[in-house]
Amino acid sequence: MPPMLPATAPFADEHIAALNRVISVTTPEQRAWLSGYLAGIQAANDPEAVVPAAPPAKRAPLTILFGTESGNAEALAAQLRKAAAKLGFAPKVIDMADFTPAQAAATENLLIVASTWGEGDPPQRAIDFYEALMADDAPRFEKTRFAVLALGDRAYAQFCQIGRAIDERLATLGGIRIADRIDCDLDFATPATGWIDSTLDRLNAEIGVKDASASVIHVDFARPNTESASRAHPFEAEITEHLRLTGSRSTSDTHHIAISLEGSAIAYEPGDSLGVVASNDPAQVEAVLQAAGLSGDDTLLTALTHRLDIATLTGQQIENFARDTGIQPLPADWAAGRQIIDLLELAPGRLSAEQLTALLRPLAPRYYSIASSRKAVGEEAHLLVAGLRYTSHGRERRGVASLDIVARHREGDKLKVFHRSNPHFRLPVDNGRPIIMVGPGTGLAPFRAFLQEREAVGARGRNWLVFGHRHYTHDFLYQLELQDWLKSSLLSRLDVAFSRDQPEKRYVQDLLWERRADLYAWLRDGAGLYICGDASAMAKDVHATVLRVLADQGNQDQASAKAELDAIRRDGRYLLDVY
Ligand SMILES: Cc1cc2nc3c(=O)[nH]c(=O)nc-3n(C[C@H](O)[C@H](O)[C@H](O)COP(=O)(O)OP(=O)(O)OC[C@H]3O[C@@H](n4cnc5c(N)ncnc54)[C@H](O)[C@@H]3O)c2cc1C
Ligand SMILES: Cc1cc2nc3c(=O)[nH]c(=O)nc-3n(C[C@H](O)[C@H](O)[C@H](O)COP(=O)(O)O)c2cc1C
Repeated sequence: MPPMLPATAPFADEHIAALNRVISVTTPEQRAWLSGYLAGIQAANDPEAVVPAAPPAKRAPLTILFGTESGNAEALAAQLRKAAAKLGFAPKVIDMADFTPAQAAATENLLIVASTWGEGDPPQRAIDFYEALMADDAPRFEKTRFAVLALGDRAYAQFCQIGRAIDERLATLGGIRIADRIDCDLDFATPATGWIDSTLDRLNAEIGVKDASASVIHVDFARPNTESASRAHPFEAEITEHLRLTGSRSTSDTHHIAISLEGSAIAYEPGDSLGVVASNDPAQVEAVLQAAGLSGDDTLLTALTHRLDIATLTGQQIENFARDTGIQPLPADWAAGRQIIDLLELAPGRLSAEQLTALLRPLAPRYYSIASSRKAVGEEAHLLVAGLRYTSHGRERRGVASLDIVARHREGDKLKVFHRSNPHFRLPVDNGRPIIMVGPGTGLAPFRAFLQEREAVGARGRNWLVFGHRHYTHDFLYQLELQDWLKSSLLSRLDVAFSRDQPEKRYVQDLLWERRADLYAWLRDGAGLYICGDASAMAKDVHATVLRVLADQGNQDQASAKAELDAIRRDGRYLLDVY
């Protein structure tokens, strides 16, 4: 892909779009010619202006450290770097995966952006850093000024746990906190930007960095915004195929959705996902309005349908509702398994439309792994979406986005999407390297993209897929394709576990244990191990099984097995995309 101008380039939006249209069809030679030509003209006309805008001799170093799973913290770290550079700092952005607490303790100015995953866990690639920071022998941070921006989701009990823990730990280790931490919910853009500006101002005031913004033109060569078409301006993609893959007797309702990306400029890679901007179920919206005693308010109806989250419930909302209605406060854990409607029903008709609007969080996009390779499907993207239905506290609940896609959209309808790059979940650069893909349920999606890609480029590496679901007869997603790939030898191995086809439950981790000699041999041959799908149970069980296999097959204790898996992860060969 040719480089594109970032949205921050010093041009009007329509000029950036026009330039990008031209740049997107240039060859490397044309771009080299153009840059030389423009620089030459400028030099001839105004020699002063092209003196490279050398940064001031002494720019204060600033280390921006991020811990991320799905890229939000990384994108904010990039935003922070840009803002810091404008103020005259010499910022450096570093992934926690590539840093140690000892290196962090040697920095003078350290700003950290960290997200929380699992149930209050660090992002995968940040585990080593986090554990070392929490360990008894962690270094002292007395020379380091620091501040922390935490990312999370208030719907989780351990809200922003990792950012909080890092912030407290750095203070305990003697670090100098130069700004208070903020804990951001899913709509982090505005608070995070405010924090970035105020924290940099504070740091600037503290150490007196000269304002270099007047004399330095910043050219941002970093990867531009990783979300093309954006959350705010999604692309309306036509659904060209909408097929239920699970059988009519299946308990799961999983669909293959193909959408057209023609005209979108979305250029995805295998491993990436699409964000879907969904709407709430009209019946659910009406139920919430009724519970609130606010039926008939059309403005509210529109806001609740398209803009506000009526599906989740947080401890903060329970607190605010008690304050607004005067009901007895409830414990925060009352939220577990409940939704806003359960809360409203405790005190029906007691909120004004403004109070209800203020109570609700913005409706967040949902992400879906792309299940296709552009090399195989051209300007399309395929998604594998499981409609979510469950019962809790005696009420039937329906997933907002998944059911919007599978039940309220049809072929020919438009779906609002944007692209989210996932640079940490990629096929090996060396396409001769073997890969093992563990993807039960919708975890299969990115691996279909991997396989299409490897087939299209004629990759030599062996491919082993481990798939699982409930029943062979109803739930074998993409069965014919997978069996064709086995026949054509694109798949060297296909192992499947159908949990409910025999009296004893059988899962992908059981398969891995049964095939442990092969798993170990593949890993020893340098295979990449990829895991995608359910984070709460599957990924943990697979992780524990891989450790057991390394211990058993390598004749080593748990500690050495863990060290071996850590080394594999550092080598970029243990990659997770779990949710
Ligand atoms: C990077 C990434 C890739 C993803 N890829 C895919 C994919 O390829 N295919 C796919 O189908 N999904 C995928 N997902 C998940 C997807 O984004 C949505 O989370 C999923 O579709 C549910 O969204 P929803 O709006 O339908 O449900 P929501 O309305 O958001 O409801 C989900 C919430 O309901 C609650 N809940 C769910 N089940 C229960 C239960 N049994 N008991 C009590 N509470 C429960 C939980 O609080 C959960 O967070 C991916 C997620 C990520 C982050
Ligand atoms: C499977 C999953 C588990 C999560 N667990 C938590 C959690 O325990 N606490 C929390 O505050 N946020 C949690 N989050 C929300 C993320 O922290 C939030 O989406 C954040 O913006 C992700 O940032 P990142 O893209 O930098 O990883 C979770 C999100 C997912 C998808």
